[in-house]
Amino acid sequence: VPELALPITTERLLLRREVPGDAPAIQAYRTLAEVNRYLAHGSVDVAFIRDRIERVWSGPFEQDGDVLGLAVEERYTGRFVGDAVLFLRSVEHRGGEVGYALDPAHTGKGYATEAAGAVLRLGFETFGMHRIVARLDPRNVPSARVLERLGMRPEAHFVRNEYSKGEWTDELVYAMLADEWAAPRR
Ligand SMILES: CC(C)(COP(=O)(O)OP(=O)(O)OC[C@H]1O[C@@H](n2cnc3c(N)ncnc32)[C@H](O)[C@@H]1OP(=O)(O)O)[C@@H](O)C(=O)NCCC(=O)NCCS
Repeated sequence: VPELALPITTERLLLRREVPGDAPAIQAYRTLAEVNRYLAHGSVDVAFIRDRIERVWSGPFEQDGDVLGLAVEERYTGRFVGDAVLFLRSVEHRGGEVGYALDPAHTGKGYATEAAGAVLRLGFETFGMHRIVARLDPRNVPSARVLERLGMRPEAHFVRNEYSKGEWTDELVYAMLADEWAAPRR
């Protein structure tokens, strides 16, 4: 990650690299049933999250499968509101994926859209990505609304292709290309 790329500040938020000490804050909301419902993982303990931060989410961002985990804070209060993630899916195809989760105490304010927009900017403008996707369960309507607000396009709807939490689930794929990001928007 280029030295000057982080932290990122937006109008209301600060996005910085996660540190192991963030694990309890992240675990507290990611384990809530309402937050967890459509995330790939089930309930996770603090030690698991700390280990992921130490070994994966704050590591290098160079190879397929690398993950950049970002803590999302309110810029003026320093309160921890959630996390946002950029996945390096393909070096060859310059492909990325964006993800996000908010503490329910901080939903309904546009923070996820603001944070995910900053991640798209990082992917396209700092890392020179060509295409960034987001994957979600179609029942996760609030998440689809985030992606629609960002101008991402629904591209695919896979039917019952993933086994998650005891059932076969559908998967929506949204995408945006670098030239779409660069086009005059909004
Ligand atoms: C997905 C998730 C991040 C969406 O959170 P969210 O709060 O709905 O999304 P935002 O933070 O972008 O906020 C948008 C809402 O705030 C409202 N809002 C209020 N003030 C706003 C402002 N200043 N700017 C923008 N939106 C604002 C918007 O109207 C919108 O509400 P609406 O969808 O009812 O119209 C959240 O539901 C979550 O963490 N879910 C669990 C984890 C998860 O599923 N992650 C995604 C996996 S694919």
